[in-house]
Amino acid sequence: MDKIEITGGNELNGQIQISGAKNAALPLMITSLLTPDTLTLKNVPNLRDVNQLKKILGNHGTDLTVEGKRANGNKYAGETYHLTARDIVDTTAPYEMVSTMRASFWVLGPILARCHEAKVSLPGGCAIGTRPVDLHLAGLEALGAQIELEDGYVIAKAPGGLKGGHVRFPKVSVGATINVLMAATLAKGETIIENAATEPEIGDVANCLVKMGAKIEGIGRKTMHIQGVENLEGAVHNVLPDRIETGTFMMAVAATGGEVELLGAVPETLTAAIEVLREAGVSITETPKGLLVKREGDSIKPVHIETQPHPGFPTDLQAQLMGLMTIADGRSVIRETIFENRFMHVQELARLGANISLNGDTAIVEGVKELRGAPVMATDLRASVSLVIAGLVAQGVTTVNRVYHLDRGFERIEEKLGNCGAQINRVSD
Ligand code: UD1
Repeated sequence: MDKIEITGGNELNGQIQISGAKNAALPLMITSLLTPDTLTLKNVPNLRDVNQLKKILGNHGTDLTVEGKRANGNKYAGETYHLTARDIVDTTAPYEMVSTMRASFWVLGPILARCHEAKVSLPGGCAIGTRPVDLHLAGLEALGAQIELEDGYVIAKAPGGLKGGHVRFPKVSVGATINVLMAATLAKGETIIENAATEPEIGDVANCLVKMGAKIEGIGRKTMHIQGVENLEGAVHNVLPDRIETGTFMMAVAATGGEVELLGAVPETLTAAIEVLREAGVSITETPKGLLVKREGDSIKPVHIETQPHPGFPTDLQAQLMGLMTIADGRSVIRETIFENRFMHVQELARLGANISLNGDTAIVEGVKELRGAPVMATDLRASVSLVIAGLVAQGVTTVNRVYHLDRGFERIEEKLGNCGAQINRVSD
């Protein structure tokens, strides 16, 4: 199993190309199930989760071709996929395929909408809480689906097809919003989704669906109106740049010092994180190509934050911010309100000398003068990258084990950081 070895202490300086967003690429690939025509996606990141989803879509009958190298191509520019689900030949998404990645559950809505039946295993993914799917199911039921749970599978039927309905989510859910949105595009009549998630990736999916012929109003807002259509068509769409990768590199630069331009970064997608980092003493300025990040002064100021659905501070950057705050000049308070078990990085950061105490959903981080390298274990996707950030500033060598978590969501991270002066290597056993 691969490990990442980091010798801390180097500043980061240079440029980093931001990849396409994992959390947009996955649902965008799934939208291909809604049409027999070809959906072309550009800027698809090369990640383990994307590769896993390829297999799942292939099992349903999607043909996928990946464009080869092009003249003047940039190796970080992302890949171009052509996805064609001419016929859905299998409406079942089996446990073996779905169990490793939660987003694969999102095939339920599109397959049900197109084939009027679907059988999808209950999902797996990062071990960050119970992560139920009740909101997905209630949303699809509001569109007329009949749902049963049997042997770990969701069996959904909509004889005669889905019908538009009124969905009011009691809690904001990214996945449930996407699942119901995709299904509603092919339902008969109008669907209203209230208390929809407004994460930028949902806007990216909705914009792609509109290119495919869907009728959606209220993109990016908490209430969306979807007028169902008979068929969707092919389209060409660029995957949005990854705001979580952007925020992660911002925090890495804030931790190490130096000056890095994040190419392709879209500041409007992470205003809350930018505000928090500015408060912590990080200069973030727009450039013609993206964002320039630089630590002002020698130290980081502590912050108080709580995670919130977009446009609040994203839970997917909580672990990275904590990694940064371990070396801040004072006490930070970090409250996690989205997931109930998303502090597994705390004990690993402690192995590097961090001083963090937990009180329910709140972590109190007392900044320390210095971290010291040690072997640590990646426990989930975002937790693993917080250990990389801490490793970049720790004295000596930090070895991050179980980096397959990292490979699910960060493309060539060791190469991107290494190009900016970090001493970081992947070691294969
Ligand atoms: C997505 C993101 C993930 C991010 C999360 C929150 C992808 C592939 N994943 O995950 O990176 O951390 O949004 O921004 O885009 N919930 C229920 N019932 C449900 C669904 C969710 O109670 O049916 C709860 C969850 O347990 C959690 C909260 O709602 O506490 C938010 O989860 P949700 O927004 O659905 O997260 P995901 O879509 O799984």
